[in-house]
Amino acid sequence: MSRRSSDPRASSATSVGDVTLTDAIMLASGTAGHGAELAAYGNLSALGAVVTKSLAAFPWEGNRAPRVAPAGVSMINAVGLAGPGVAQWLSHGYEDLRAVNATVVASIWGRTVEEFAAAAAALRGVPVAAVEINASCPNLEARNAIFANSPDATAEVVAATDVLTVPRWVKLTTTAPGLLEVVDAAVSAGASAVTLGNTLTGLVIDIDSRQPVLGNGGGGVSGEAARPVALRAVFDVRAHNPNLPIVGVGGVSTSEDALAMIMAGADAVQVGTVTFADPRAPWKISRGCREWMDRHGVVSLDAIKGAAHG
Ligand SMILES: Cc1cc2nc3c(=O)[nH]c(=O)nc-3n(C[C@H](O)[C@H](O)[C@H](O)COP(=O)(O)O)c2cc1C
Repeated sequence: MSRRSSDPRASSATSVGDVTLTDAIMLASGTAGHGAELAAYGNLSALGAVVTKSLAAFPWEGNRAPRVAPAGVSMINAVGLAGPGVAQWLSHGYEDLRAVNATVVASIWGRTVEEFAAAAAALRGVPVAAVEINASCPNLEARNAIFANSPDATAEVVAATDVLTVPRWVKLTTTAPGLLEVVDAAVSAGASAVTLGNTLTGLVIDIDSRQPVLGNGGGGVSGEAARPVALRAVFDVRAHNPNLPIVGVGGVSTSEDALAMIMAGADAVQVGTVTFADPRAPWKISRGCREWMDRHGVVSLDAIKGAAHG
């Protein structure tokens, strides 16, 4: 495709380990549907990747409505990982994404280690760019403790997906106690990158009904509130492991936010909640990054990755 003269000159291409992406901005899991839903707002193939909403090996209805609500300038959700399951996704969402030439990262989840293994097995041989293992969900076998709060449970879900031959990214919880040990465990078990991170545990109460706003009670806070927490996690993990590919996600709504995430040490950035307010935001963020790079004489993102570490 030819470049318009007004297009920024800098390239925001990047790589996450062995995965080369045409752009550093991806759509975060759960915020862009299971397929090409956002194609009406921009060219999905121009973004780094579309990360699907997390898929289980089976269809899953998710939680009671209401599932999403405002939380000040942030947002809270308890969608409950509703989805069609891998098999149905392969014949629908996946095909839609292929039809628009999007780079696809398939996110998987499970309630047990075996369910992660089953989701991975169902995706075996599918030529997605990577599989993102959503380890930030509740573990039925450990009284619903979040897998990613535990180095051992994280290692188990990563190891259980080793049937996959594509790179495996593991999506962690930025507030995990001992996050660095969780990261080390994930890498030892076979993860080639970490995605930092997921939503923050939260609650919103409607004082008129005197009840939690969401059908599930509590939920996950995303958007503004998640940004400094994710930025810190990316910074700390980069300081701990200078060579580990990192995907930063949490409250990125502007190109400045995305650039800060890269300077903290992210190799690529996912954008989620902001797309509910402005579905064109991912493309605007990408363009804004390249315009900033042009203004500052930065030709490649490699020049600013981890710059905040001095
Ligand atoms: C409505 C909603 C649904 C989500 N569903 C998933 C999901 O299925 N799997 C997952 O790994 N993360 C899921 N997330 C978390 C996002 O991918 C992201 O990690 C988090 O929202 C922080 O980024 P953001 O502030 O840019 O949204 C969901 C977030 C929202 C708001």
